[in-house]
Parts: sequence; structure tokens; C-alpha cells
Amino acid sequence: MTGNPRAVGIIGLGSCVPERVLTNADLERMVDTTDEWIRTRTGIRERRIAADHEATSDLAAAAAQRALADAGLAATDVDLILVATLTPDMAFPATANLVQHHIGARAVPGFDLSAGCSGFVYGLTVGAQLVGTGLYQRVLVIGADVLSRITDWTDRSTCVLFGDGAGAAVLGSVPAGSGFLAFALGGDGAGAELLNLPAGGSRRPATADTVGHHLHFIRMQGNEVFKFGVRAMVDATIEALGKCGLTPRDIDLLVPHQANIRIMDAAARRLEIPLDRVFANVDRFGNTSAASVPIAFDQARREGRVKEGAIIVFVGFGAGLTWGATVLRWSEAPWKDR
Ligand code: ACO
Repeated sequence: MTGNPRAVGIIGLGSCVPERVLTNADLERMVDTTDEWIRTRTGIRERRIAADHEATSDLAAAAAQRALADAGLAATDVDLILVATLTPDMAFPATANLVQHHIGARAVPGFDLSAGCSGFVYGLTVGAQLVGTGLYQRVLVIGADVLSRITDWTDRSTCVLFGDGAGAAVLGSVPAGSGFLAFALGGDGAGAELLNLPAGGSRRPATADTVGHHLHFIRMQGNEVFKFGVRAMVDATIEALGKCGLTPRDIDLLVPHQANIRIMDAAARRLEIPLDRVFANVDRFGNTSAASVPIAFDQARREGRVKEGAIIVFVGFGAGLTWGATVLRWSEAPWKDR
């Protein structure tokens, strides 16, 4: 998946998290857990929770507007909108269509992409091909989720993990030699049972019974997902790097899906990457699913962690099961030239 006719990269970045902070101390009052257990098993200290009136498209639109402002572009400059989410505002229409209307974009195509926590990496991969072929000039790729709406707040094994948020990137042409260098995606439905939302779809439509049995909430076999997550992040990173002739030693900054600090640390150890080259903010936001990679990268760049010419790897894993990584050579030049 390399060799696009023109260089494509990220030319604008933005993110948005809800204002409400839910701390581990708050959770201690809700379920049988402790701050100590949550911190040592996950690295999470607090997470953001959407207000009652906030849905995925609201956070997505706010992140998109910030990314466009960062790129120096107007909403009318966007040619395609792609929203990676597993918590769309509703089953249809697509959240991407709602975002298009909300931000005042032209009547451009938009669609949602369901790849769990790998969604943003999938979205970058799809969006970059469509810019690379010349079909579109500027593609808005958004990762957004409001997992708090599908979290069972009586289940301590899952409710301590998740948070809400959105991150967005504008993809466009970048100077030759920079931008995306390689992509590697994977998926295996054999693991669908490890992580899913059992009811509300065509197999088990919503009934009073499914609601009564908490079947509209995330079900997860945490241990199995943990092992899969480490393996998938390591393999996807090596595969993507190999496609552009690089190795883990070449990584300047790894931006992994923020599920659990232990998963990130274990993957970094296996890749033999020093931890100061791995960006983590799971302590502040928990697992925000498709939003976690762009929220983390936006923060990393604002903190000056992303240098000109740096090799950046985005890597994710999630429900599906899915996994994926992209390699990017960073350039601020498109911003400066604008
Ligand atoms: N507080 C206190 N005790 C708890 C809690 C809690 N919040 N949750 C579980 N426990 C208990 C369990 O009941 C168990 O007790 P037992 O030994 O008496 O049975 C004990 O802690 C150990 O439980 P484990 O599940 O073995 O704990 P583990 O170390 O595996 O950590 C965790 C659990 C944090 C969920 C971990 O497995 C994990 O992070 N898995 C990956 C999750 C993930 O990455 N998901 C990503 C995808 S999300 C998406 O796509 C939407």
C-alpha cells in the first residue's frame, strides 16, 4: 500500500474532549473498586464524560473545526468526511453526514467507518489513498466516540476503562518525501466474541429483555483483549515499518491506541523502543476508542514532541478484532506555506 502518485500527509490537527471529569475517586463511589487498582492495572487517573446533550457528532464537529483552523482552511475546502466511530449518533444516517451539516461544509460525501479502536488508523489509510490518487484534495478524518453511552456503569471490569472524546486530521498534499510512508491493516472476525455490544443490531434487535439483561453495553474479555492488543500493536508496527524499509529503531514517536499503559509498555518493550519515544495520555483520558490516537497526537504536537522530519507511527487495535499501523514522516511545512 505504498507508492501513491503524490505525497499525502496531515495538514491540520484538532481534538475535543467534554468538560466533565470523572476521577477514580468518583468511581470508588459508584462500583467496588479503588483508585490504586485502576492506576496500577490501567494507568488511568481520570477520564472525560459527555454531557447529556453531547453526542458523538458534536465532539467530532468541534475537533474538525479545530483541525481546519489549524490547517488555515474553511469547512468549504473539505472534499470528503470520514468518521471512525462505534458510537454513531444513531444507526443512520452516518455521523459523517451530521458533521458535514454541523460544520457548514459543502454537500460533500461522508461515511462512517466501524473498526473499533483501530478506526482512526483505518480512516487515515482510506483517506490517504483517496487524496493520493487525486480523487479528492482535502479529506477530513475524524475519530470520535462517546463510549460512556454504551458503558455498563455497574460493571467494574469495564466502566473504569473508558472515556469520551474526538480527534480530527485534515489530509492533503505535503512536500515530496514527507507524509504517509506505509500502511498495514488487519482484521479477524474469529475474535468478535472477545469484545462487542451484543444487542441493538439486526441479530438481536432491542427489546425490553435485551435492555433488562444489559446487552446494549460493551462486553469484553479483558485478559484476552490485553494479550491480543500487545501482539497486534507489535506486529502491525513492524509490518508497516518494513513496507517502507524502516525498523522500530527509526521511530521518533510511537502514538499507540490509549487502552492501558501496561499494553503500551509491553508493546514498547517488545519493539525495544525507549518509553520516552512512546506518547501516552491514557492517565488523563482513559480509553476513548477511535479518538484516542488523534487526541494523543494533537497533544504531542502541541507539547513540541513532534519535530520536523520525525518518523511517527500510529498504531491501534480493537473490536473486530481489528488492528493497524501507519508510518508518517512529519512536516510542518504545509502549515508554514499556507
Ligand atoms: N476494581 C477492582 N477489582 C477489579 C476491577 C476493578 N475495576 N475490575 C476487575 N477486578 C478484579 C477482577 O474481578 C479480578 O478479581 P478475581 O481475581 O478475584 O477474579 C481481578 O481484579 C483481576 O482481574 P483481571 O481481569 O485479571 O485483571 P487484569 O489485570 O487483566 O486487568 C483489564 C483488567 C484492565 C480490563 C485488562 O485486562 C485490560 O486492560 N484489557 C484490555 C482492555 C482493552 O484494551 N480494551 C480495548 C478495546 S476497547 C474497545 O474497542 C471499545
